[in-house]
Order: sequence, then C-alpha cells, then structure tokens
Amino acid sequence: MKARIGIVINKNTDTDKPVGKLSLKEAEAELARLAAETHRADEAYYAHDKPEITDAEYDAMRRRNLLIEKRFPKLKRKDSPSDKVGAAPSAKFEKVRHAVAMLSLDNAFDDEDVTDFAKRVSKFLGLKAQDEAAFTAEPKIDGLSLSLRYEHGELVQAATRGDGAEGENATANVLTIVDIPKKLIDAPGILEVRGEVYMSHDDFNALNKGLERGGEEPFANPRNAAAGSLRQLDAAITASRPLRFFAYAWGEVSEVLADTQTNAMKRLEGFGFKTNPLTKRCRNVDEMIAHYRSIEEKRATLGYDIDGVVYKVDRLDYQTRLGFVSRAPRWAIAHKFPAEKATTVLEDIEIQVGRTGKLTPVARLTPVTVGGVVVSNATLHNADEIKRKDVRVGDTVIVQRAGDVIPQIVEVVKDKRPHGAAAFSFPDRCPVCDSHAVNEVNPETGKADVDRRCTGGLICAAQAVERLKHFVARNAFDIEGFGEKQIAALFEKGIIKEPADIFTLSQRQNTGEVDLYTYKMKADGSPHFDKNGAKQLTNKKSVENLFAGIDARREISSARFVNALGIRHVGETNARLFVTHYGGVKEFYAAAIKARDDEREAYQEMLSIDGVGALVARAVIEFFDEKHNREAIDRLLAQVTPQKVETMASDSPVAGKTVVFTGKLELFTREEAKVRAQSLGARVAGSVSAKTDFLVAGPGAGSKLKKAKELDVRVMTESEWLEFIDG
Ligand code: IVH
Repeated sequence: MKARIGIVINKNTDTDKPVGKLSLKEAEAELARLAAETHRADEAYYAHDKPEITDAEYDAMRRRNLLIEKRFPKLKRKDSPSDKVGAAPSAKFEKVRHAVAMLSLDNAFDDEDVTDFAKRVSKFLGLKAQDEAAFTAEPKIDGLSLSLRYEHGELVQAATRGDGAEGENATANVLTIVDIPKKLIDAPGILEVRGEVYMSHDDFNALNKGLERGGEEPFANPRNAAAGSLRQLDAAITASRPLRFFAYAWGEVSEVLADTQTNAMKRLEGFGFKTNPLTKRCRNVDEMIAHYRSIEEKRATLGYDIDGVVYKVDRLDYQTRLGFVSRAPRWAIAHKFPAEKATTVLEDIEIQVGRTGKLTPVARLTPVTVGGVVVSNATLHNADEIKRKDVRVGDTVIVQRAGDVIPQIVEVVKDKRPHGAAAFSFPDRCPVCDSHAVNEVNPETGKADVDRRCTGGLICAAQAVERLKHFVARNAFDIEGFGEKQIAALFEKGIIKEPADIFTLSQRQNTGEVDLYTYKMKADGSPHFDKNGAKQLTNKKSVENLFAGIDARREISSARFVNALGIRHVGETNARLFVTHYGGVKEFYAAAIKARDDEREAYQEMLSIDGVGALVARAVIEFFDEKHNREAIDRLLAQVTPQKVETMASDSPVAGKTVVFTGKLELFTREEAKVRAQSLGARVAGSVSAKTDFLVAGPGAGSKLKKAKELDVRVMTESEWLEFIDG
C-alpha cells in the first residue's frame, strides 16, 4: 500500500526502516546517504536541468531526512539537505477527486430556523405529527474537513475538502495525526470516514509562543493553525504540530454502516475514531434546542473552537430519501452561535473597485480582537448603508464577526462621536481610473441600483485585475500556484492582460518574449521582480511548477469555464445551469448569440431554464454581444478545452425523459418524487403533452390521466414507477 499513499522512500537502497526503529548507527548512515542523494538530485535538476527523480521522491527524501534529524538532533550533518534553500520542495499537493462529493451545510441562525428545518423534513417525508423524525445534535467543530479512505482496513488516502468535488492529497501529513487510526479491524472493504481536523486551545497557544520565540509570524486562530499545519509540504513539520480529529460522517462505503446516524457513529468509534462526546439523539425540536443551549453554555470550557451545533436526521433511510439540494444535504443543518462583537474606532473609509466596477466602501479600523481574531477591516457594503447607519470617520463603532464572513459594522456609538466629524461623501468618480461612477437604473423596476459602479469598463485597471483574479479563483480555473498576488504582479508588469495570456506564458517564456525567471517569490508567495533583471535560477522550480499547474487546467469543466468568464449574475450555480442545459460551453455561447439575434425561440429557451430569469438572460446576451468579450473567449478557447457536460445518471432508464406526476401520491410526497426523478436525469413537467414520456398516476387521477391515454403516453402506478427507476 505504500505507493498508493504517495510515500516513496529509499528508492535506491534497501533501507526502508521506519524512522522510529533506526539505531543510532543506522540513522547516521541513513543521513549520509540522504545527503548524498539529495545533493545528486539537486545537481541533476539545477546544474544539468535533467531531473533524475520525481518531485514526490525528492520531497520524500527530504522529509525522511528531517524526521531522522528530529529524532537524533546531534547527528545532523553540516551538509544537511534541510539547510539548503535552493531546492524548495514541490509547491504542489496532488489533486484528489472525491468518490462522493464533500458537501457543506445550510445554516440556521435562530430557533425558528430550526423549527422550519424540522418541518421541511417532515413535509418532504410526508410524516404525520405523531411520528416526527428524531435528530442527532452535536457541536460544529471549527476546523477543516478531511476525508479518509480505507481499503481493506488500511488507510490509503486522505484528502482535504477543496471545492467539494476535488481536494488535495494530504496523506503523508495525516499519517502523523495520532487521533486517526491507520488500520481498521472488521471494517467494510471500502470506507471513507469524514470529519474535522482541529487544534486545541492549549496546543494553539503553545505553538504560537514557539513561533514567536523563533521570530515567526503567529497564527490568527486555531483553525488557521490547523489548516497551516496540514498544508505543510514537509510532513515532519505537521508531525510536530498536535492536530486532532473528530469523525462525524462518511463518504463511499462498500456496505451499509448502520440503520441510524447514532449507530453509524458507534461503529466508527468501534474502529477507533474519536467522535464528539456531546453528541445526543433528540426526539423533537424542543430537545434539539435544549441541547444547543447546553452546548453553548459549555462552549468556553471545551478547550477547542466550535461555531454552532449540527443537527442530522437520525434514520439513515430518511437521509437517503431526503438527499441533497445543490451543495448541502436536506437532512442536516448547522445552527450557528450568534456573532461575536467588539468596540473600536473607524479610522478611515476606503473605496475598493470590484470586477464588475462596483465601488465598495471598506472601513479601516483600529485593530481589535473579536472572538479571538484580530479585525482591522470591515465591509460597509454601499453608500446607502453608510448613510443609514450614519457612519463617519472618527466614530466609535461596534463590529461583529460571524465565522468566516467579513466583519461588519453593526452600529455607531453616537455619544462618542468627535466634534466636527463630517458625513462621508461617496465619490462619483472611480478612484482607480477616474471614470464616472454611477448608480445604474434597473430596466425592469425603473429604480436606481444601490451600488455605484465605475463606467470605465475595459480601461479600468482595477476591474481588469479583479476579473483575472476571479478567473483563477478556487471555484473557477483554480490554477495551482497561481493566486491573486501572482496575477496582480503579472498584470502590473503587462505580462498578463486577459485570461488567454495565462496559457501562452510557457510558450512566451520559451521564445524569450517574457522572462519569468527574472523575478522570485517573496516569502509570502508574492512575486518580486529583481531590479537588475538578474536571472534567479533558484526560482526555476517554482516557475516550472506554475507551468505544470497551468497545463493541468487546459482541460476544464464547462461549469468552471463559464463561471470564470465573470458574466454578471452568472456565478457557480447559474454557470452549472447553463452548461447542463446546453451541454457545453460552445453550445451555450452559440445559444447566447442566437438569443441576441432576436431569435425569440432561443431567448425563450434560455428563460425556460429553471432558475434563469430575464435579468440573468439579459446579462448573458449583453456579455456575448460585446465583440471584445467574444474575441477574448475565442483566444481562450484556442488554449483550453472545456469538457462536454455529462448528463446526470445517464444510465438510468428515465434520463432525458419527461415525467408527470398526478393524483394523490401515497408512497412518496410530490417534492420527493420530483427531486428523485430529477436526480436520475429526468425532466418533471406539470402538464401532459406530446413530449411527455411517462405519467405516474396515484389514486384519484383525472384529466391528466385522460389526456395521457389519448396521447398514448405510458402510464404507471407509484409502485411500478419505483420498480422502474430502481431496476
Ligand atoms: S456534517 C453532509 N458535522 O462544517 C454533511 N460537519 O459548514 C457533512 N463541520 O463542511 C457535514 N463540524 O467541515 C458535519 N459535526 C459536524 C461538523 C461539520 C464541523 C464542518 C464540515 C462542513 C462544514 C459545513
């Protein structure tokens, strides 16, 4: 199993003894061998430009070297590879596709939201008041989620959540976490255990003290510390950070774990996982809320961060029936704790220009700690909000922070307002390109928009760079090693002006048109160009990693591609709607052009997509109407290939078919029937027509049944339908 988990150690020797078992003599010999081999690999890579081993093998050697040095500090050699800066370990974690997507949770902010959630569950399942569903309630751990894959009882892979569909391989690092069993006894052949990696308050404080003593930047909070520790390329560093793990869910399993969430957790405990001791089975909403309050009371004394309580439907057959809505399960919800607040002073209001030209006022605050995190900026949203709250520079304000969202100013302490503090006057020109900034009028409502936008469009550097940042963002092209800072620097240098330029970088490097080796990355990952343009060969590896990251995205999902374009009102969800409807990027592009050319049918078809309204359709048409947008897309399409969209569950007998449900349904609720059919790739219509493939009729069906018979549509009973889709 060693190769599967990505650790290739001692490729050229027969020494693969675990570090913990090495004798002093063996350790000394092993350090000498590793120093020599690392040196040879460096020579081959740097001096001859001919790498002899893979990045993973190289990283593994350095990791083993460091682990041995940690165990036997006195044996550390003068020529130790750990002291060499020239050869940074690969800046890459391999990507891992999750067998079952890792989802997020919807939020409830008060008791009423929880009641509504329980009602929705009952309604969906068609439960009567007396047989209400039971729920589990457990703390929501403020860490980062992880999926652990076991095959035949052996831990073969660990992956971070990433975007839910694809995460990063963290196996080598996870092997160092004590709470995570490496072998399971009597487990299903395939078992993916999911849970949260976190750091305790004590360990966090000790770690920060150590970092500060060593002159290093401390972490802002335990969550960041846990994430930073797990994302170490050097597993020896992860090993030195005390990470912990609570299991709370699972992904792919080759056999059913249990009948209820409660019993599934018991099985995970039986395998050796830690589950949260505050997990409780609740029979109704009152018990759920009572347990929430009791967890809230204990919050400060738990010794680790939690940010709410998660409720899950206990019966697993109910969970299956409830399924998912976009990215969150219908059978679970997170009841968040109220936001934390603090008082500070508003020092200034700055205006930021976004990708669509929106001017956003940002409050610069005297730094203040809110719930353990230092806050120095807060969003003020728009001019209206500043006016409504009457926020002025110099004011004492109350800020609040809830989870990961940007802190907000909740109110101004008017008594403390300094004399002469003037009302803020919102600029009518863009602070970056000086174009006029206006509040557009919505053509549908005739009302002026609350947001003021820069009219500079293409000439506005702020908009251009924000568009590029959006293009490479995590839910768009997500290019490894290419973040906001890199984009900003390359934009500033004129090396990247539009998305296609990213994909011609390596070619331009080869022809000498640009020279990326003349800048190096600063410690914080931002590029720094050498003033004299001297070649920084030490940087060669990171540039090559960047090219590899770019090449890896030359094939991209259509939904990511469309989201990356940054069309107004078309984010992740709408991008997915469009590409699944049209089948791909080119088809969507063609349809938008057709709709623009006043082909009523094409425009109507766009509006017929469930979830797409006139505002969105118009934004799409306007976007494709711009010649420069079409040209930029054409240049991009010459570089990258969006994948065709596979229709969901194409092997189902109902995929692509249209079904109508009628009559009083007894075996499932209408909502459940609809969702299930859709998840199998069927279209659910409200009326029978020549396009209808199946009519599922419950007792009391009337006119629809009659019409279906006239049109020779296949009619089924509920149980026939169930058999048909399950077959
Ligand atoms: S259940 C399909 N239980 O919260 C549902 N999640 O905001 C899987 N989290 O991505 C999640 N504690 O990382 C669940 N006790 C808990 C949790 C928990 C923390 C995280 C998890 C998830 C995020 C959603």
